[in-house]
This record gives sequence, C-alpha cells and structure tokens, in this order.
Amino acid sequence: GTVVLAYSGGLDTSCILVWLKEQGYDVIAYLANIGQDEDFDEARLKAEKLGAKKVFIEDLRGEFVEEFIWPSVQANAIYEDRYLLGTSVARPCIARRQVQIAQREGAQYVSHGATGKGNDQVRFELTCYALYPEVKIISPWRIPEFFNRFRGRKDLMEYANEHDIPVPVTPKAPWSMDANLMHISYESGILENPKTHAPVDLYLMTKNPEDSPNTPDVLEIEFLKGVPIKVTNVVDGKAKDSPLEIFSYLNEIGGKHGVGRIDIVENRFIGMKSRGIYETPGGTILYQAHLDMETFTMDKEVRRIKQGLGITFSELIYNGFWFSPECAFVRDCIARSQENVEGKVQLSVFKGQVYMLGRESPKSLYNEELVSMDVQGDYDPCDASGFIKINAVRLREHHRLQGLSGSK
Ligand code: ARG
Ligand code: SIN
Repeated sequence: GTVVLAYSGGLDTSCILVWLKEQGYDVIAYLANIGQDEDFDEARLKAEKLGAKKVFIEDLRGEFVEEFIWPSVQANAIYEDRYLLGTSVARPCIARRQVQIAQREGAQYVSHGATGKGNDQVRFELTCYALYPEVKIISPWRIPEFFNRFRGRKDLMEYANEHDIPVPVTPKAPWSMDANLMHISYESGILENPKTHAPVDLYLMTKNPEDSPNTPDVLEIEFLKGVPIKVTNVVDGKAKDSPLEIFSYLNEIGGKHGVGRIDIVENRFIGMKSRGIYETPGGTILYQAHLDMETFTMDKEVRRIKQGLGITFSELIYNGFWFSPECAFVRDCIARSQENVEGKVQLSVFKGQVYMLGRESPKSLYNEELVSMDVQGDYDPCDASGFIKINAVRLREHHRLQGLSGSK
C-alpha cells in the first residue's frame, strides 16, 4: 500500500520513512510549511534520496493564520490560563492537508512521528479519522517492532548510518522543539526536571527582555469582526494589512522586545503532567489587543457566556477535537459574538510587556456621558439605592441566620 508520511526532515521521520519502505510500503513524504525555519529544498532532496515515491511540500502559512490562528484570537483561546496553543492549533491544519493528499493520491495509509505519550498523536489521528474515516494510521512509536528497535537517539543514528540517511551535523539541542509561525515549544530532555531553569540561549524567537531595546515600539492594531486587518507602527509609519504579514510583523516586534515567554507545567490529554517552555510573541500581543477591543465593544452578558465558550474551545483544541461537531458549533457561536468587535487599539511593546495606551471604535458600547463623574447623563443616582438594597436582601438574610446559630 501507499502511505503519506508527515515528514519533518529530521532524524526521526527520516528513519521512519526508510523503515516504512522496509515494511513494503510506497512512501509519499509530506512536509507542511507552517512558518518554521527550514530549508525546504534540501528537505525535498533528502526525502527523494531516502526513496520517497513523491514529495509534497505545502505552503500552509496563509490558511494556518486565517483558518486556525484567527479563530483562536477571536476566542481568546488559552489553555490552563497560560498556554496560547501554538502547537495544538497547527496539528489539525497539518493533518487536514495530509489526508487531502492521501485521498488525492489514492493512499490508504498515513503516518507520523509523534510519540505514544503525547498530545500530538491524538491531534493528528483524530483529525485524520474525522476527515478521512476509512484511513489506516501507522504510528511507529506505538508499534513494538519499531519502538523496541529504536530505544533512543543512538539506535536512530546507527540505523541512519546503516541506511545512508544523512545525520544532522549540528549537535542536537538537549530538548525537543516544535516551531511554527505562532510559536516555538521546548520540552523533554534536560527540561524534564521541572526545577531545571531554561538556559538563556534556549529561546529562538524572542530576545531576553533584559537585553531588549530601551525604547518601546508603539503599534496601532485595527480589528474587524474580531480579527486584525491592519497593524501600523506609530513611530515609523510602517503598516501591514494581509493576515500573514500582520502576524509576522507582530512576531518581529514582539520578538524584539521579548514578549510572550512562558515556562509552565501543563496537563496532557492522556493524563500526565509535562513541563513546557513556549514563546509566542505575536500571539501574545494579539491576545491582549483583542481582549481590549472585545471588552470595549461587546455586551457584558454576551461576553460572559462567550468567555466560557472560549475555555471550552481551548480544551477542544488542546485535546485534538478541532474537527468535531461540538468544536464547529462553539466556533460558530464565537464568530457570531465578534460581529461588532471592530476598531483600533493603541499599545506599546516594551521589555517583555504589552501596555494598552488607548482604543477607539465605531461600535463601542462605552458611553462617556453615562459613566462621567462630571455629567448626569441619562441616569438617576436615586435608582441605585433600590438596586443596592435589593441586592442586599440576601446578604442580610445570610447574616441573620449566622446570628441565630451563634457563629460568624
Ligand atoms: N505541550 C504542547 C502541546 O501539547 C507542545 C507539544 C510540542 N510538540 C512537539 N512535538 N514537540 O501542545
Ligand atoms: C510528542 O509526544 O510527540 C510531543 C509531545 C506531545 O505531543 O504532547
């Protein structure tokens, strides 16, 4: 049979490619460009040399931003209060194209290099089953003949040498990385001990805030229906207005000022805790800016319900259910809430932080006259007495009961 392998160009998936061939499969190598720093021409040559029947290198950056990052921005998606889901949102984007290729090429099988202990295996495979129900999935790291043969990097290197697989010349960092347009994640290796501090030179997307510029960048971000449509640098007048350019520019500015670093212990879907370090510069700026514009323009009670949906959405993304009926439903509801999230936010980016400076919107629900300390507006202060008294009924009853039982 024919198998479409999600190929990264690295040692693991190179060995998997050759191993699949050894098992008798025709292998199609598929490499998604989602903004990681990679020599794609070299990766193509390498896959061809290893015996891939065909190689597909797919530029998914545009759809990654518009179909996956933008809905996450609208939702203020964040997992366990801190993780902006950079890897989690990329997986359904990558796997969707993988099954498209499989169906187009008449391949029954897909394969990937995710381990048997993580979230990524779940995300890849749920997406594949959701979009190509008859697909057969080969997960080498869950197949005893594979994982018993490759017990560590040393075994992979040996196999590579035996099979003419080029091994990386640069020594491998003592941790695992996953990079895309939205973030870089760092896990495992020396980071597995949650007490071990990250080395200062680990971070590749962001400057250390201790070494970042001593003058801020001031940006204006314009939103329409909850997504950014333009970013302008107020200092030099530079402006970007396409999704990919906007996001890349926010990464550049956020990276320059050391924005979006986190070091956390999180709960994996499969039940274990893991330690991860993430840098999400552009995503962090947008998270702050969007929250600001949303609160400015959205009805209070709609916002409260929508906030709960955002948490649900984040868990669905993390757990691999992007392509599920419940996720589509939640996504539609969230999109509906964004109709009036429109306007401009001004902010400064400085020393690892994002500071709001001001905001304006044609759809604002903010009523300057209503809230003013200096003007009366369409509001009678006497009404507040009743409002407070009625709210106090329950509190006074509670106190009375405590008085009866003699405790406080
Ligand atoms: N823990 C993060 C997540 O589950 C990042 C996973 C990183 N994946 C990787 N293959 N290095 O989303
Ligand atoms: C992996 O196990 O392949 C990476 C970590 C994860 O998926 O959670």
